[in-house]
Amino acid sequence: MNLSEKIKKLLKEKNAVLLAHYYQISEIQDIADYIGDSLALAKKATEINTKIILFCGVHFMAETAKILNPKTKVIIPDLEAGCSLADSCPANDFKIFKEKYPKHKVISYINCTAEIKTMTDIVCTSGNALKLVESFSKEEKIIFAPDKNLGGYINRQTGRNMILWDGVCKVHDILKNETVIKLKVKNPKAKLLAHPECNADVLKLADFIGSTAQMLEYAKNSNSKKIIIASETGLLHQMRKDSPKKEFMVVPTDETCLCNDCEYMKKNTLQKVYNCLKNEKPEIILDNNTIEKAKKPIEKMLQISQKLNIIK
Ligand code: 13P
Ligand code: SF4
Repeated sequence: MNLSEKIKKLLKEKNAVLLAHYYQISEIQDIADYIGDSLALAKKATEINTKIILFCGVHFMAETAKILNPKTKVIIPDLEAGCSLADSCPANDFKIFKEKYPKHKVISYINCTAEIKTMTDIVCTSGNALKLVESFSKEEKIIFAPDKNLGGYINRQTGRNMILWDGVCKVHDILKNETVIKLKVKNPKAKLLAHPECNADVLKLADFIGSTAQMLEYAKNSNSKKIIIASETGLLHQMRKDSPKKEFMVVPTDETCLCNDCEYMKKNTLQKVYNCLKNEKPEIILDNNTIEKAKKPIEKMLQISQKLNIIK
């Protein structure tokens, strides 16, 4: 039996479900019970009633699953699988920042720690951020944290002036418009899809801007035979599975590869997944107070997303 088969068997024996983000290595995506972007995975976590959730993504995503489903044991293959956006926004610094704007509502991108979520009015993901912000009246004063690229994109789209926390996703922010232009010149008919965590210069060049799941949907339905992705390499796996006849390429971070990997997402390996399931650790542990406070803005997000038909 190979490692993937052993994991599948153990999942059944332990009454566990494996949730994976699209940025995971292909081998993990292929054995997952459910693959999704951060919004779909949060929603899925509310529906699970197994003994264990084995979460293959990054820490804030597993934490979100724990907050939404606190009775279930949530385990992750590597506790070091963090996120540069979550790291950019320490709770103490954010508290001081927030105190400067007592009349502002706080909208937090889901890529932040549970502690930041406890100081938040509503959480959003890249899949619903624009619509959630638009659901507030134009007069509402808003702090948006921690992604200044996503926040800036929403400000430009809506004509708002949200106060932005100064954080970026180092995987998306590093992409340069010159590299994109070179790829577009070489592939003039290709469509460019970009994640809103990219900087404004790259977003300006995009034919479509959306979350991971939204880009996948666009790629599947597009008539274009060539698609360039300004996002993470892991996306290519499902895109190629969905549309084997189309050509997909990722905007590279440098000249040496056609790849752009999130070092945190790629910390998870099949061996670590197996060990984690076998030993039922590392486990996500959160105190009840944090869970109760952090749950409110996430549940609010899910309710509004449902109302707006962004999720079912
Ligand atoms: P999605 O919401 O598109 O899954 O994005 C999560 C993320 O971490 C992107 O870098
Ligand atoms: Fe965080 Fe960026 Fe990695 Fe997504 S790709 S998990 S935002 S560092």
